[in-house]
Amino acid sequence: MNTLDQRTALEQAARERIKDSHTLDGDAGRLAHFYRGWASSYELDVGRDGYCGPMIVAELAGAVQTAYLARQRTAIAILDAGCGTGLVGVELERLGFRWIDGFDLSEEMAEQARQTRVYRHVQGNVDLNGPLSDYPSASYDITVCCGVFTLGHVRPDGLRELARVTRPNGFIIASTRKSYAETTSFEDEVRRLQDAGVLVLAQCLKDSRYVAEEDAHYWVFQVPEKANAPTEERP
Ligand SMILES: C[S@@+](CC[C@H](N)C(=O)[O-])C[C@H]1O[C@@H](n2cnc3c(N)ncnc32)[C@H](O)[C@@H]1O
Repeated sequence: MNTLDQRTALEQAARERIKDSHTLDGDAGRLAHFYRGWASSYELDVGRDGYCGPMIVAELAGAVQTAYLARQRTAIAILDAGCGTGLVGVELERLGFRWIDGFDLSEEMAEQARQTRVYRHVQGNVDLNGPLSDYPSASYDITVCCGVFTLGHVRPDGLRELARVTRPNGFIIASTRKSYAETTSFEDEVRRLQDAGVLVLAQCLKDSRYVAEEDAHYWVFQVPEKANAPTEERP
């Protein structure tokens, strides 16, 4: 096999892995097991597939801070939800953010994120398909979530918990893979949460670059000054 064939084969294998990750039906046990096996080669695979979500999400956080938040970047508290190996944290640090927490369902992915040393605290075994019980309400200026509202991972109603942990006037920045946005009720959930006064859509970059084979939408939500307390029981 020549070098070009080898590269094509590796890219193909990376794409297959990414596709496999979409078949896990949001099942916490299956997702944790899958990412346990993928943690050490995740960055190589997504790099081969041209993954640029983390850079776009971090740049949006930078734009939001410059445009709307009075405090310096070093003093902005950020939560990276589903931080994986820490690709978003590394981009945030490059842009001057220093107060970054992260969590992930997979302890092995969380450990990789800890090793980047750009996070203040990273917690594993945290499931965004349920309540974020260890995270008090209104704690973060910006909550970012990249590559997590994607097929087979987190349901759209996870957005409600991201809004709860974000401070009034703070922001949530999330990507949705295009096929996820098209096949789930994410946009309905956004409307429900807007109607309930939980968040306001500030910007959406539709059909933006994400991975080689598919685009994503990037959403910027603001939590209103007097956000209605989310009271609904989650399934
Ligand atoms: C495609 S990776 C994205 C990781 C990182 N944000 C990035 O952009 O590289 C998806 C991540 O979501 C995590 N994940 C999947 N389901 C989750 C859940 N229910 N709660 C929290 N994290 C979850 C996985 O463990 C994995 O680290």
